[in-house]
Amino acid sequence: MSTIRFEQVSLQFPGAARPAVDRCSCQIESGKLVVILGPSGCGKTTLLKMVNRLYEPTAGQIYLGDQNIRQIQKTALRQRIGYVIQQSGLFPHMTVAQNIAVVPKLLGWPRTRIQTRVDELLTLVELPPHEYRNRYPTQLSGGQQQRIGLARALAGDPQVMLMDEPFGAIDAITRASLQDEILRLQRQFRKTILFVSHDVEEALRLADYLLIMQQGQIVQYDTPFNVLTNPANEFVHNLIGADDMVRQLSLLRVETAMADLPINYSQNGTPRIDRSESLRHALSLILKTGAPKLTVMDEETPIGEITLEHIRDSASLAATR
Ligand SMILES: Nc1ncnc2c1ncn2[C@@H]1O[C@H](COP(=O)(O)OP(=O)(O)O)[C@@H](O)[C@H]1O
Ligand SMILES: [Mg+2]
Repeated sequence: MSTIRFEQVSLQFPGAARPAVDRCSCQIESGKLVVILGPSGCGKTTLLKMVNRLYEPTAGQIYLGDQNIRQIQKTALRQRIGYVIQQSGLFPHMTVAQNIAVVPKLLGWPRTRIQTRVDELLTLVELPPHEYRNRYPTQLSGGQQQRIGLARALAGDPQVMLMDEPFGAIDAITRASLQDEILRLQRQFRKTILFVSHDVEEALRLADYLLIMQQGQIVQYDTPFNVLTNPANEFVHNLIGADDMVRQLSLLRVETAMADLPINYSQNGTPRIDRSESLRHALSLILKTGAPKLTVMDEETPIGEITLEHIRDSASLAATR
């Protein structure tokens, strides 16, 4: 069980006028990717760092599954939680392979298993092992360093991943490809991921749920679709740019707005669309084919339907607020 539960969690730094994190309660379901979104200084990093006990709350409790994390030894806890930060945090004097092997070594894996795992992870993040395993971090681009940081965090196969603006310092094109990478990995492995971002486009693109923070408090916790169509207040509305309908449609994934398949479902000539495509793509497909709805696919499996009404709801509701 890798559900994360925050119960009235606060952290007030010594001498601070008000808490950096203020009575936050929420539950992060196992296997979901939750993006913590909010302006600089609102408490995102502080909230995240309490999960692997880099910070301790001054009030409240955090549970991992049914265990209070205060009851778990810090080293044991951190072996269960992958952590990726903006400055990849790679050890400069270690090769790529040695960096990735840090946790497996701590876990006492045999040498050959570690070597296999390193190559597997390099392949996973699309860096050919024979070319990259013996390089040093300075011999990599920023984007490649972040890929290695990701591989290292995944090495011990943790159920939980904490990612703090991991792509913040990366150029826009590389960042988009790293985001694709995350979505692909998430589809394959279904980790519980807490991902901090202050970039709305990144957040809407990646999130199963958005956790929106303002001055240390959670102001909304819902799907990107629901946040867009029903922002909790003016702050959220402005933060996510709810007025810009076209932009929203191009960012929201089809799977976040689709309906379940009806009981008597039959695919009979209905055009198909992949679950990670944008609503904008869905709209153009509907307009082009004249079909009343599209079947949403996970590889070869139908998982839902999307109609013009779904798309219109997400666009018009957001626009009329
Ligand atoms: N180690 C620290 N000591 C004192 N104050 C801190 C510390 N870390 C963060 N803060 C303060 O806590 C607030 C939230 O910071 P942070 O969680 O880093 O925000 P975010 O990640 O959303 O930008 C800010 O006002 C910041 O100045
Ligand atoms: Mg931060």
